[in-house]
Amino acid sequence: MAHQHNEHREPQGHGNKHGDEHGTEQGHRHGHHHGHTDIDWAVMAPLLESQAELFAPLYERAMAWLAKEVTEPGLIVDTGSGPGVVACLFAETFPGARVVAVDGSEPLLERARARAARLGIADRFTTVAGELPGSLTELDYPADLLWASNALHHLGDQRAALAAFAERLAPGGTLALLEGGLPARFLPRDIGFGRPGLQARVDAVEADWFTRMREDIPGSVAVTEDWPALMAAAGLKPARTRSFLLDLPAPVSDRARAYVVASLTRLRESLEEGLDAEDLATLDRLLDPDDEASVHHRSDVFVLKAHTVHTAVRTG
Ligand SMILES: C[S@@+](CC[C@H](N)C(=O)[O-])C[C@H]1O[C@@H](n2cnc3c(N)ncnc32)[C@H](O)[C@@H]1O
Repeated sequence: MAHQHNEHREPQGHGNKHGDEHGTEQGHRHGHHHGHTDIDWAVMAPLLESQAELFAPLYERAMAWLAKEVTEPGLIVDTGSGPGVVACLFAETFPGARVVAVDGSEPLLERARARAARLGIADRFTTVAGELPGSLTELDYPADLLWASNALHHLGDQRAALAAFAERLAPGGTLALLEGGLPARFLPRDIGFGRPGLQARVDAVEADWFTRMREDIPGSVAVTEDWPALMAAAGLKPARTRSFLLDLPAPVSDRARAYVVASLTRLRESLEEGLDAEDLATLDRLLDPDDEASVHHRSDVFVLKAHTVHTAVRTG
Protein backbone atom coordinates (compact mmCIF):
# COMPACT_ATOMS: atom_id res chain seq x y z
CA MET A 1 0.00 0.00 0.00
CA ALA A 2 1.40 3.38 -0.94
CA HIS A 3 0.28 6.84 0.05
CA GLN A 4 0.68 10.00 -1.96
CA HIS A 5 0.48 13.41 -0.36
CA ASN A 6 2.12 16.75 0.08
CA GLU A 7 1.19 17.37 3.67
CA HIS A 8 2.11 15.75 6.94
CA ARG A 9 0.57 12.38 7.69
CA GLU A 10 1.21 9.93 10.47
CA PRO A 11 4.15 7.60 9.98
CA GLN A 12 3.30 4.13 8.67
CA GLY A 13 5.10 0.83 8.93
CA HIS A 14 7.00 -0.35 5.88
CA GLY A 15 8.29 -3.77 6.70
CA ASN A 16 11.34 -4.84 8.55
CA LYS A 17 13.78 -2.58 6.75
CA HIS A 18 12.05 0.56 7.96
CA GLY A 19 11.99 0.97 11.64
CA ASP A 20 12.54 -2.02 13.84
CA GLU A 21 16.29 -2.49 13.80
CA HIS A 22 19.34 -0.37 14.30
CA GLY A 23 21.44 0.14 11.24
CA THR A 24 23.63 2.52 9.34
CA GLU A 25 24.48 3.58 5.86
CA GLN A 26 26.40 6.51 4.49
CA GLY A 27 26.27 6.38 0.75
CA HIS A 28 28.00 3.08 0.44
CA ARG A 29 29.00 3.05 4.07
CA HIS A 30 26.68 0.58 5.68
CA GLY A 31 26.89 -1.27 8.88
CA HIS A 32 25.28 -2.93 11.79
CA HIS A 33 26.11 -4.31 15.17
CA HIS A 34 26.55 -8.07 15.47
CA GLY A 35 26.74 -8.60 11.74
CA HIS A 36 23.05 -7.83 11.04
CA THR A 37 22.31 -5.93 7.90
CA ASP A 38 18.82 -4.49 8.45
CA ILE A 39 18.85 -0.72 8.27
CA ASP A 40 16.59 1.62 10.24
CA TRP A 41 16.22 4.44 7.74
CA ALA A 42 14.44 6.76 10.16
CA VAL A 43 17.41 6.56 12.54
CA MET A 44 19.65 7.31 9.57
CA ALA A 45 17.73 10.49 8.73
CA PRO A 46 20.10 13.16 10.14
CA LEU A 47 23.11 11.42 8.64
CA LEU A 48 21.51 10.93 5.22
CA GLU A 49 20.44 14.55 5.24
CA SER A 50 23.79 16.08 6.26
CA GLN A 51 25.65 13.78 3.88
CA ALA A 52 23.45 14.73 0.93
CA GLU A 53 23.87 18.42 1.82
CA LEU A 54 27.67 18.05 1.83
CA PHE A 55 27.48 16.25 -1.51
CA ALA A 56 25.19 18.91 -3.05
CA PRO A 57 27.91 20.24 -5.41
CA LEU A 58 28.37 16.73 -6.79
CA TYR A 59 24.63 16.30 -7.34
CA GLU A 60 24.42 19.72 -8.99
CA ARG A 61 27.11 18.74 -11.49
CA ALA A 62 25.32 15.44 -12.15
CA MET A 63 22.08 17.37 -12.75
CA ALA A 64 23.77 19.79 -15.16
CA TRP A 65 25.02 16.73 -17.04
CA LEU A 66 21.53 15.18 -17.01
CA ALA A 67 20.03 18.44 -18.28
CA LYS A 68 21.88 17.90 -21.56
CA GLU A 69 19.64 14.95 -22.40
CA VAL A 70 16.60 15.69 -20.25
CA THR A 71 15.22 18.97 -21.49
CA GLU A 72 12.31 20.61 -19.68
CA PRO A 73 11.01 17.54 -17.83
CA GLY A 74 7.41 17.81 -16.64
CA LEU A 75 7.69 15.12 -13.97
CA ILE A 76 10.81 14.01 -12.10
CA VAL A 77 10.56 11.02 -9.75
CA ASP A 78 13.23 10.48 -7.09
CA THR A 79 13.00 6.78 -6.25
CA GLY A 80 14.29 5.95 -2.77
CA SER A 81 14.65 9.67 -2.15
CA GLY A 82 15.42 9.50 1.55
CA PRO A 83 15.13 12.93 3.22
CA GLY A 84 14.67 14.74 -0.08
CA VAL A 85 17.83 16.83 -0.33
CA VAL A 86 18.46 15.62 -3.89
CA ALA A 87 14.77 15.70 -4.82
CA CYS A 88 14.64 19.38 -3.81
CA LEU A 89 17.82 20.09 -5.78
CA PHE A 90 16.04 18.59 -8.80
CA ALA A 91 13.11 20.94 -8.23
CA GLU A 92 15.50 23.90 -8.10
CA THR A 93 17.51 22.78 -11.14
CA PHE A 94 14.38 22.15 -13.22
CA PRO A 95 12.00 24.97 -12.20
CA GLY A 96 9.35 23.81 -14.68
CA ALA A 97 9.15 20.31 -13.22
CA ARG A 98 6.96 18.67 -10.63
CA VAL A 99 8.97 16.40 -8.37
CA VAL A 100 7.71 13.28 -6.60
CA ALA A 101 9.87 11.73 -3.89
CA VAL A 102 9.14 8.03 -3.35
CA ASP A 103 10.44 6.14 -0.35
CA GLY A 104 9.52 3.38 2.07
CA SER A 105 10.24 5.53 5.11
CA GLU A 106 7.55 8.04 5.99
CA PRO A 107 9.75 9.86 8.57
CA LEU A 108 12.27 10.55 5.80
CA LEU A 109 9.53 11.80 3.47
CA GLU A 110 8.27 14.07 6.23
CA ARG A 111 11.71 15.70 6.22
CA ALA A 112 11.56 15.94 2.43
CA ARG A 113 8.22 17.79 2.57
CA ALA A 114 9.51 20.11 5.30
CA ARG A 115 12.56 20.92 3.17
CA ALA A 116 10.40 21.62 0.11
CA ALA A 117 8.23 23.94 2.22
CA ARG A 118 11.32 25.79 3.54
CA LEU A 119 12.56 26.25 -0.02
CA GLY A 120 9.20 27.54 -1.23
CA ILE A 121 8.68 24.72 -3.72
CA ALA A 122 5.97 22.76 -1.90
CA ASP A 123 3.44 23.54 -4.65
CA ARG A 124 5.27 21.24 -7.06
CA PHE A 125 6.69 18.72 -4.62
CA THR A 126 4.81 15.62 -3.47
CA THR A 127 5.74 12.34 -1.82
CA VAL A 128 4.67 8.72 -2.12
CA ALA A 129 5.29 6.43 0.86
CA GLY A 130 5.48 2.71 0.25
CA GLU A 131 7.64 -0.26 -0.64
CA LEU A 132 9.48 -0.04 -3.93
CA PRO A 133 9.02 -0.86 -6.68
CA GLY A 134 5.28 -1.51 -6.12
CA SER A 135 4.62 2.00 -4.78
CA LEU A 136 5.50 3.48 -8.18
CA THR A 137 2.05 2.40 -9.40
CA GLU A 138 0.71 5.28 -7.27
CA LEU A 139 2.19 7.82 -9.66
CA ASP A 140 -0.49 9.67 -11.62
CA TYR A 141 1.71 10.33 -14.65
CA PRO A 142 4.69 8.72 -16.34
CA ALA A 143 8.04 10.26 -15.44
CA ASP A 144 10.26 12.21 -17.82
CA LEU A 145 13.18 11.57 -15.48
CA LEU A 146 13.31 8.78 -12.93
CA TRP A 147 16.31 9.05 -10.60
CA ALA A 148 17.43 6.34 -8.19
CA SER A 149 20.47 7.12 -6.06
CA ASN A 150 21.91 4.33 -3.94
CA ALA A 151 18.40 2.93 -3.71
CA LEU A 152 18.18 0.11 -6.27
CA HIS A 153 20.73 -2.00 -4.39
CA HIS A 154 18.36 -2.12 -1.42
CA LEU A 155 15.67 -3.89 -3.45
CA GLY A 156 15.74 -7.69 -3.53
CA ASP A 157 15.10 -8.25 -7.24
CA GLN A 158 16.96 -5.45 -8.98
CA ARG A 159 16.05 -6.72 -12.47
CA ALA A 160 12.35 -6.69 -11.63
CA ALA A 161 12.71 -3.27 -10.02
CA LEU A 162 14.40 -1.88 -13.14
CA ALA A 163 11.57 -3.26 -15.28
CA ALA A 164 9.08 -1.51 -12.97
CA PHE A 165 11.11 1.73 -13.16
CA ALA A 166 11.18 1.49 -16.98
CA GLU A 167 7.40 1.00 -17.07
CA ARG A 168 6.88 4.29 -15.24
CA LEU A 169 8.86 6.28 -17.82
CA ALA A 170 7.16 8.39 -20.47
CA PRO A 171 8.25 7.66 -24.07
CA GLY A 172 11.59 9.43 -24.43
CA GLY A 173 11.96 9.51 -20.64
CA THR A 174 15.30 8.91 -18.93
CA LEU A 175 16.22 6.57 -16.10
CA ALA A 176 19.28 7.76 -14.17
CA LEU A 177 20.84 5.31 -11.73
CA LEU A 178 23.47 6.38 -9.23
CA GLU A 179 25.23 3.17 -8.26
CA GLY A 180 28.87 2.50 -7.49
CA GLY A 181 31.83 4.78 -7.91
CA LEU A 182 34.75 4.84 -5.51
CA PRO A 183 34.79 4.46 -1.72
CA ALA A 184 35.45 7.64 0.24
CA ARG A 185 38.93 8.63 1.36
CA PHE A 186 39.43 10.84 4.39
CA LEU A 187 43.05 10.35 5.42
CA PRO A 188 46.53 9.84 3.99
CA ARG A 189 47.75 6.23 3.67
CA ASP A 190 50.12 6.73 6.61
CA ILE A 191 48.60 8.76 9.43
CA GLY A 192 51.58 8.48 11.77
CA PHE A 193 50.26 5.67 13.95
CA GLY A 194 48.75 2.23 13.38
CA ARG A 195 49.32 0.11 10.29
CA PRO A 196 49.28 2.23 7.11
CA GLY A 197 46.42 1.61 4.67
CA LEU A 198 43.52 1.53 7.17
CA GLN A 199 40.90 2.76 4.72
CA ALA A 200 41.79 0.14 2.10
CA ARG A 201 41.23 -2.60 4.70
CA VAL A 202 37.97 -0.96 5.79
CA ASP A 203 36.82 -1.03 2.14
CA ALA A 204 37.34 -4.80 2.01
CA VAL A 205 35.31 -5.34 5.19
CA GLU A 206 32.56 -3.09 3.86
CA ALA A 207 32.45 -5.00 0.57
CA ASP A 208 31.72 -8.20 2.50
CA TRP A 209 29.13 -6.38 4.62
CA PHE A 210 27.47 -5.20 1.43
CA THR A 211 27.32 -8.77 0.08
CA ARG A 212 25.66 -9.94 3.31
CA MET A 213 23.27 -6.97 3.22
CA ARG A 214 22.19 -7.94 -0.32
CA GLU A 215 21.79 -11.62 0.62
CA ASP A 216 19.67 -10.73 3.66
CA ILE A 217 17.08 -8.72 1.69
CA PRO A 218 13.88 -10.77 1.40
CA GLY A 219 13.56 -12.07 -2.17
CA SER A 220 17.17 -11.22 -2.92
CA VAL A 221 18.30 -12.21 -6.41
CA ALA A 222 21.99 -12.15 -7.33
CA VAL A 223 22.88 -10.11 -10.42
CA THR A 224 26.05 -9.05 -12.16
CA GLU A 225 26.16 -5.33 -11.42
CA ASP A 226 26.50 -4.27 -15.06
CA TRP A 227 24.00 -1.42 -14.77
CA PRO A 228 23.79 -0.46 -18.47
CA ALA A 229 23.23 -4.14 -19.40
CA LEU A 230 20.54 -4.45 -16.74
CA MET A 231 18.83 -1.30 -18.01
CA ALA A 232 18.96 -2.74 -21.55
CA ALA A 233 17.39 -5.96 -20.25
CA ALA A 234 14.58 -3.79 -18.85
CA GLY A 235 13.85 -2.59 -22.40
CA LEU A 236 15.70 0.74 -22.18
CA LYS A 237 18.41 2.11 -24.42
CA PRO A 238 21.57 2.74 -22.37
CA ALA A 239 22.80 6.27 -23.03
CA ARG A 240 25.67 7.57 -20.91
CA THR A 241 27.78 6.79 -17.85
CA ARG A 242 29.83 9.30 -15.93
CA SER A 243 31.40 9.60 -12.50
CA PHE A 244 31.24 12.71 -10.37
CA LEU A 245 33.80 13.64 -7.78
CA LEU A 246 33.41 15.29 -4.41
CA ASP A 247 36.86 16.70 -3.75
CA LEU A 248 37.14 18.63 -0.50
CA PRO A 249 40.87 19.00 0.19
CA ALA A 250 42.40 19.74 3.58
CA PRO A 251 41.85 21.92 5.46
CA VAL A 252 38.18 20.93 5.52
CA SER A 253 35.18 22.89 6.74
CA ASP A 254 33.58 22.04 10.09
CA ARG A 255 30.71 20.45 8.15
CA ALA A 256 33.04 18.16 6.19
CA ARG A 257 34.93 17.28 9.38
CA ALA A 258 31.65 16.40 11.09
CA TYR A 259 30.82 14.12 8.15
CA VAL A 260 34.19 12.36 8.50
CA VAL A 261 33.65 11.93 12.25
CA ALA A 262 30.13 10.54 11.66
CA SER A 263 31.36 8.20 8.91
CA LEU A 264 34.22 6.78 10.94
CA THR A 265 32.00 6.46 14.01
CA ARG A 266 29.55 4.36 12.01
CA LEU A 267 32.37 2.26 10.62
CA ARG A 268 33.77 1.69 14.10
CA GLU A 269 30.33 0.54 15.29
CA SER A 270 29.40 -1.58 12.34
CA LEU A 271 32.57 -3.20 11.04
CA GLU A 272 34.00 -4.17 14.40
CA GLU A 273 33.90 -7.90 13.62
CA GLY A 274 35.89 -7.58 10.41
CA LEU A 275 38.81 -5.44 11.60
CA ASP A 276 41.76 -6.57 13.69
CA ALA A 277 42.62 -5.17 17.13
CA GLU A 278 45.29 -2.81 15.79
CA ASP A 279 42.92 -1.23 13.26
CA LEU A 280 40.17 -0.92 15.88
CA ALA A 281 42.63 0.82 18.22
CA THR A 282 43.61 3.15 15.39
CA LEU A 283 39.96 3.97 14.76
CA ASP A 284 39.44 4.61 18.48
CA ARG A 285 42.33 7.08 18.47
CA LEU A 286 41.03 8.75 15.35
CA LEU A 287 37.66 9.22 17.04
CA ASP A 288 38.87 10.40 20.46
CA PRO A 289 38.06 14.11 20.73
CA ASP A 290 40.73 14.49 23.42
CA ASP A 291 43.45 13.17 21.11
CA GLU A 292 45.17 15.82 18.98
CA ALA A 293 45.81 13.14 16.34
CA SER A 294 42.08 12.39 15.98
CA VAL A 295 39.99 13.44 13.00
CA HIS A 296 38.42 16.03 15.30
CA HIS A 297 41.67 18.01 15.19
CA ARG A 298 44.14 16.78 12.60
CA SER A 299 44.94 19.12 9.70
CA ASP A 300 45.26 16.44 6.99
CA VAL A 301 41.60 15.32 6.94
CA PHE A 302 39.97 15.55 3.50
CA VAL A 303 36.93 14.16 1.66
CA LEU A 304 37.36 12.49 -1.71
CA LYS A 305 34.56 10.36 -3.14
CA ALA A 306 33.20 9.41 -6.57
CA HIS A 307 29.62 8.51 -7.50
CA THR A 308 28.80 6.98 -10.89
CA VAL A 309 25.58 7.79 -12.76
CA HIS A 310 24.23 5.64 -15.62
CA THR A 311 21.42 6.82 -17.88
CA ALA A 312 19.11 4.95 -20.24
CA VAL A 313 16.17 6.12 -22.34
CA ARG A 314 12.73 4.66 -23.06
CA THR A 315 12.55 4.73 -26.81
CA GLY A 316 9.07 3.26 -27.39
C1 LIG B 1 20.97 4.93 0.97
S1 LIG B 1 19.43 5.70 1.07
C2 LIG B 1 19.57 6.78 -0.34
C3 LIG B 1 18.84 8.07 -0.13
C4 LIG B 1 19.05 9.08 -1.25
N1 LIG B 1 18.57 8.56 -2.52
C5 LIG B 1 20.51 9.47 -1.37
O1 LIG B 1 21.15 9.11 -2.36
O2 LIG B 1 21.01 10.13 -0.45
C6 LIG B 1 18.31 4.46 0.51
C7 LIG B 1 16.85 4.89 0.55
O3 LIG B 1 16.05 3.86 -0.02
C8 LIG B 1 14.91 3.64 0.80
N2 LIG B 1 14.53 2.23 0.67
C9 LIG B 1 15.31 1.16 0.92
N3 LIG B 1 14.63 0.03 0.68
C10 LIG B 1 13.40 0.39 0.24
C11 LIG B 1 12.24 -0.32 -0.18
N4 LIG B 1 12.21 -1.64 -0.19
N5 LIG B 1 11.16 0.39 -0.56
C12 LIG B 1 11.17 1.73 -0.54
N6 LIG B 1 12.24 2.47 -0.16
C13 LIG B 1 13.34 1.80 0.23
C14 LIG B 1 15.34 3.98 2.20
O4 LIG B 1 14.24 4.37 3.00
C15 LIG B 1 16.33 5.12 1.96
O5 LIG B 1 15.71 6.37 2.02
